[in-house]
Amino acid sequence: MNPSRHFALIPAAGVGARLGAAIPKQYMPLAGQPMLMHVLRTFAAASEISHVFVVVSPDDGYIADLMAAAPHLQGRVTVLYHGGASRQASVLNGLQAVKAQVDEDDWMLVHDAARPGLTQDLIAQLIAALKDDRVGGLLALPVVDTLKRGDQNARVAQTVERSGLWAAQTPQMFRHGLLTRALTLAEAVTDEAGAVELLGLQPRLVEGSPRNFKVTLPHDVALAEMFLKEQV
Ligand code: CTP
Ligand code: MG
Repeated sequence: MNPSRHFALIPAAGVGARLGAAIPKQYMPLAGQPMLMHVLRTFAAASEISHVFVVVSPDDGYIADLMAAAPHLQGRVTVLYHGGASRQASVLNGLQAVKAQVDEDDWMLVHDAARPGLTQDLIAQLIAALKDDRVGGLLALPVVDTLKRGDQNARVAQTVERSGLWAAQTPQMFRHGLLTRALTLAEAVTDEAGAVELLGLQPRLVEGSPRNFKVTLPHDVALAEMFLKEQV
């Protein structure tokens, strides 16, 4: 049997409501390039990755120009116009759209377009850590701050025990067959690991990096540019 391959699947069909820019945030320029371009270039340059799939909205008006401006991505990246109403739907639609090109044991690395700080080293570390894993896993960061649960008046209701808590990042890496089953059965999950957990499985936590944070709010833009310009 052939060894399992690794594919990237990038959900990029959101609108970026919390960022509130004039265009969907994945196309917002950051350090001279659209946010999504940073992610596509990183995966396209990673030798472990067989091919990159990006899921955009059926009426996306930006991806064609982005791809036309990046001849080096052609042949490495396929655009799927199958975005859905939620991130979960976009990922599941993407998995179904590539079914004929991917074996059920091949690994899918699902990565947010909104995390442009991902590096080839982080991809390599995730793949190495999960090489022989039966379940799969995700990049995540151990929580370092003391956590408070607040009430409606922004007063502390409780200090939450921090030990053992991690903040989930992406990529989240699971085999195509397992992930398709998990996302089909799950009702409303915000990440792939959440769907896999509902099957009673325990995804592995692999330490990520602060630079791989998700660009969500307007104040995140300057920090993302700082990391991207630093090229570390
Ligand atoms: N995403 C998607 N399909 C959706 C919603 C989100 O593919 N229906 C993607 C986004 O494009 C992004 C990733 O999922 O790459 C993470 O989602 P998030 O950061 O929440 O992005 P948006 O949904 O665009 O932002 P917001 O929630 O602020 O509107
Ligand atoms: Mg969202």
